[in-house]
Amino acid sequence: MSGLLFSPVTLGALNLRNRVIMAPMTRDRAGPGDVPTALMAQYYTQRAGAGLIVTEGVQPTPEGKGYWRTPGIHSAEQIAGWATVADAVHARGGLIAMQLMHCGRVVVPANRGFDADVIAPSAVACPDKVPGPDGTPTETALPRAMTEADMARVTQEYAQAARNARMAGIDAVELHCASGYLINQFLNPASNQRTDQYGGSAENRARFPVQVLAAMAEAIGVDRVGLRISPGNPYNGMDPSDPAATFGPFLDAVNGMGLAFLHVVDMGLPDLDTLAFLRAHWSGPIITNNMLKADSAEELLQAGRAEAVSFGRAYIANPDLAERMQAGAPLNKPDYALLYTGEERGFTDYPALDAA
Ligand SMILES: Cc1cc2nc3c(=O)[nH]c(=O)nc-3n(C[C@H](O)[C@H](O)[C@H](O)COP(=O)(O)O)c2cc1C
Repeated sequence: MSGLLFSPVTLGALNLRNRVIMAPMTRDRAGPGDVPTALMAQYYTQRAGAGLIVTEGVQPTPEGKGYWRTPGIHSAEQIAGWATVADAVHARGGLIAMQLMHCGRVVVPANRGFDADVIAPSAVACPDKVPGPDGTPTETALPRAMTEADMARVTQEYAQAARNARMAGIDAVELHCASGYLINQFLNPASNQRTDQYGGSAENRARFPVQVLAAMAEAIGVDRVGLRISPGNPYNGMDPSDPAATFGPFLDAVNGMGLAFLHVVDMGLPDLDTLAFLRAHWSGPIITNNMLKADSAEELLQAGRAEAVSFGRAYIANPDLAERMQAGAPLNKPDYALLYTGEERGFTDYPALDAA
């Protein structure tokens, strides 16, 4: 197959050799100290044929950890581990962006292996359970409401995490503003019940997210910072109604900054053409995601609806997804029982085409 999918594209400072991007996916395989392992380096290297890899969500600070065995980017050992990953991906000619994911209130404390506060815009618990250490759905902790001092500190933690990622040789960072985690908790009125300048109106709810993006851009350069959103996603207790009312003002506030890309999980909303809505509020490159196949992705690119596309589950089972799509070859199916467990099984043992 030829087409736009396999043509180069520029996202900020990044020159991608194709538009097939690996979507961020948490896989719960970090080592002690939340350090990325040699096995993780192998997993990402196998997938380096993507135009860009976006890593699994990575906590910028211990307080940002909510799930079992997720990696961090706040210690020297973690930076060294990520440097091994980045070097190996670069050796295969790939590019890698790190997703910075602070879980906010979506925390099962037993997943952490250390004590740290659970913080969120307001002291409102996440109504959804999340997997505990053995995978059983477990109640999350009641968070404490962040003070203005917390917000200033967490903003700097994100900026430092971005610097750490660059120190490890990671090409860019993506701020996770989707799926009900900390930044999304600020944007959404169900989790943000503040009465100060960080709550209430959509403009106020966007204030902390915009502040964090500005600090990250200041730290490593605006053309190496992207963001990910999922308007209308009810995950982790988000109120999915009227996403345009929240995301319009948020995007209007960040549009002039010159960020590298906007990565959207298009929920296929019945009342909102998400990609058209984004074009009206965002003038930079768009990466779109969710349930795409080679054909539907190519159609979106040909129609000018997005500049690039990302694939999640297809990349779990197909380390050489871009190459397979270009060859028109069949795809392996992921084993969902091994998403978050199994070490190398269901992680690095899916065959590439030339080995299959
Ligand atoms: C196992 C798994 C883990 C995921 N972890 C993350 C994550 O850490 N951060 C994120 O933004 N999205 C995460 N997602 C969502 C994916 O990035 C993607 O949006 C979703 O899988 C839909 O794309 P697809 O239809 O191509 O799979 C995850 C999805 C899966 C299947």
